[in-house]
Amino acid sequence: MSKPPPDQRPDATVAPPLGLLAELTHRCPLQCPYCYNPLSLSGRGEELSTESGQQLFGAARALGVLQLHLSGGEPMARPDLLPLVADAAQRGLYSNLITSGVLLDRAAAQALADHGLDHIQLSFQDTDPGMADHLSGYRDSFARKCAAAEAVRAADLPLTVNFVVHRQNLDRLPEMIALALSLDAGRIEIAHVQYYGWALRNRAALMPTRAQIDRASEIVAEARAGHAGRLVIDYVVPDYYAARPKPCMGGWGRQFLVVAPDGDVLPCHAAKSIPGLVFENVTQRPLADIWRDGPAFARFRGTGWMREPCRGCVHRETDFGGCRCQALALTGAAENTDPACALSPAHGEMLAIAERDAGSAPPPFTYRRFGA
Ligand code: SF4
Ligand code: FES
Repeated sequence: MSKPPPDQRPDATVAPPLGLLAELTHRCPLQCPYCYNPLSLSGRGEELSTESGQQLFGAARALGVLQLHLSGGEPMARPDLLPLVADAAQRGLYSNLITSGVLLDRAAAQALADHGLDHIQLSFQDTDPGMADHLSGYRDSFARKCAAAEAVRAADLPLTVNFVVHRQNLDRLPEMIALALSLDAGRIEIAHVQYYGWALRNRAALMPTRAQIDRASEIVAEARAGHAGRLVIDYVVPDYYAARPKPCMGGWGRQFLVVAPDGDVLPCHAAKSIPGLVFENVTQRPLADIWRDGPAFARFRGTGWMREPCRGCVHRETDFGGCRCQALALTGAAENTDPACALSPAHGEMLAIAERDAGSAPPPFTYRRFGA
């Protein structure tokens, strides 16, 4: 076997990750058209056992991980969530539960707090109840989520509310911010849909217009000034209208790792969309070794894999070329510069797609059903 080039060899000095996203299950009662889970989902029988999950948390803490994000699918679909939360707390991990909230009542929120959970991030589809149900494919989702938020605060857990925004809800941004305040959230994350995986199928139904983006930026600026010290507002311009890409995951294999429900260890949640990557499983190799020199992590770590224009660019160690999965989805090669970058040869085409999709009547959603 030939040696990899010097800039792709295992590096014993790789810094430890800050955060672990543990996708406890792909099962989910909602059917969002912008679902970011992979196209191929793990079934219940493939999920890590409670014991394997706890071993994973121990390995993560030993590796230096400080923040544990418990996600899905819907993590509350795991009947062993409480022992998993208790184990994370006992190991000193700061734990954040990312949930749709539709299964979260007062007793569940209190039990999570009692078992040592540190924070809850609750996702909303919309402030319009009918549209929230339409987007989630779940009846009474809005009322259930509001009740869940009240349960979280009654259990004295810090709350972040999360809105995934797009053409069909972005005009209600002021109402979203008002809702976060009324629910006593300390933070609101306003995240534009990322168009890869399932969401790519619904891009034409979800792409916002330039005018919506411009107005949203003004609303966010005003709200940040008006609610400073009370509500933290996280908002980033969507990639299709950006001039510079985001450093996806803080750079590939630099700060975060993802463990899929079956135990496969991934550099990002969509990494399985990239052909040719080899993923290792936490039940078969130590997490620290996978992080340090696993082939999927080594593939795009650092800057040695880059092509032009990233290779010679002064920003290459700031944004790390953007998102590999988006580069693949839009240019056909994960090694290419993310087209969100104005220096990418595909940037003009990306903007043209956005303007075309945003300018046409939205087609019906293609829903994400578990097992679909
Ligand atoms: Fe970032 Fe690459 Fe664009 Fe430079 S060319 S700004 S490194 S994405
Ligand atoms: Fe995979 Fe951005 S989602 S690198």
